[in-house]
Amino acid sequence: MKACLRRNYGPPETFQVIEIPKPKPKPNEVLVKVMASTINRTDNGVSTGKPYAIRAFSGLFSPKIQVTGTDFAGIVEEVGAEVRDFHVGDRVWGFEDNGAGTHAEYLAYPVSKAILKMPDEMDFATMVACAEGAHYAINFIKKVDLKPEMKVLVIGGTGAIGSAAIQILKAMEVRVTAVCFEEDVEKVNQLGPDRVIGLEKEDFTQDSAAYDFVFDSVGKSRFSICKPVLKENGVYISSELGPNWENLGLALKGMFSKGKRVIFPLPLDILDSLKTMQKLVEEGKFKPLIDDHRYTLDNVLEGFAYVASGKKKGNVILDLS
Ligand SMILES: NC(=O)c1ccc[n+]([C@@H]2O[C@H](COP(=O)([O-])OP(=O)(O)OC[C@H]3O[C@@H](n4cnc5c(N)ncnc54)[C@H](OP(=O)(O)O)[C@@H]3O)[C@@H](O)[C@H]2O)c1
Repeated sequence: MKACLRRNYGPPETFQVIEIPKPKPKPNEVLVKVMASTINRTDNGVSTGKPYAIRAFSGLFSPKIQVTGTDFAGIVEEVGAEVRDFHVGDRVWGFEDNGAGTHAEYLAYPVSKAILKMPDEMDFATMVACAEGAHYAINFIKKVDLKPEMKVLVIGGTGAIGSAAIQILKAMEVRVTAVCFEEDVEKVNQLGPDRVIGLEKEDFTQDSAAYDFVFDSVGKSRFSICKPVLKENGVYISSELGPNWENLGLALKGMFSKGKRVIFPLPLDILDSLKTMQKLVEEGKFKPLIDDHRYTLDNVLEGFAYVASGKKKGNVILDLS
């Protein structure tokens, strides 16, 4: 089978698309014919091994899983002897943030990890685009005690995380203001926020004491910049560590102080994220933002370069169908 492989940590230029043996499922695994995956920012981290902390999970000196890719949607083609809940022909999807080897025609995947049967009416590309960014969005949002009508500022409405966050927050009946570049205002408006701020035309830092929660989903701002727009006990969360990893230190300080504070959540329960997303999709409350650029295994390296540019809009599909 064809797969995108990297033997060492490094940039996409060092990856190769080659033929490797089709995997055989272990007793607790299913063999999935992968129909769609995404190329995402988690792939960038897992592939380059940066920040270095990620290597504690993905392999200290070289990647434990050599095939790239973290998420998948596809069809079960074989089941291991101990597998009871999945059957040949099931349409399934899943995500593993430390890398799962999904950029390949076939994948052997343990059923003890995050994997679900897909709703009948969903197509593979749409379903797989509900995994990575949405998982982080859910885990960051659930750290804040939000009630309907509270106000949230989402900085970066066009990222995989931000575009998911806007819709998840709206499903919670929270009032959402999203920030993006002027050219993307219409695209972000379609995700359903109450207000969209085009960066070049309006300065969101002038919205004094307006928000219960500021979520910098692209990690381009700082707590010090956003503090004036937070309400008295408002929370700031960023998807990035910030300059000199300041968000870690600030989060530690926030644990022992009152008032405006930083939280730096560790996104953990992936299966719960998939279940939450599947419910929102089935209720018609979530439609992932999908980038116009699509790739196949033949040009997957171009896809990695595009994602690393920080210019993608939502989720970039890798079509393996
Ligand atoms: N903490 C974690 O566990 C974790 C996990 C995964 C990812 N991340 C991080 O989360 C961040 C977001 O990843 P992502 O996949 O959602 O999106 P992304 O690939 O970083 O996409 C960024 C999008 O945001 C826009 N953007 C860039 N700068 C902006 C700004 N100052 N204000 C508003 N919008 C801006 C870009 O627009 P233009 O195209 O116009 O520039 C682009 O459409 C990345 O930095 C990633 O490394 C963190």
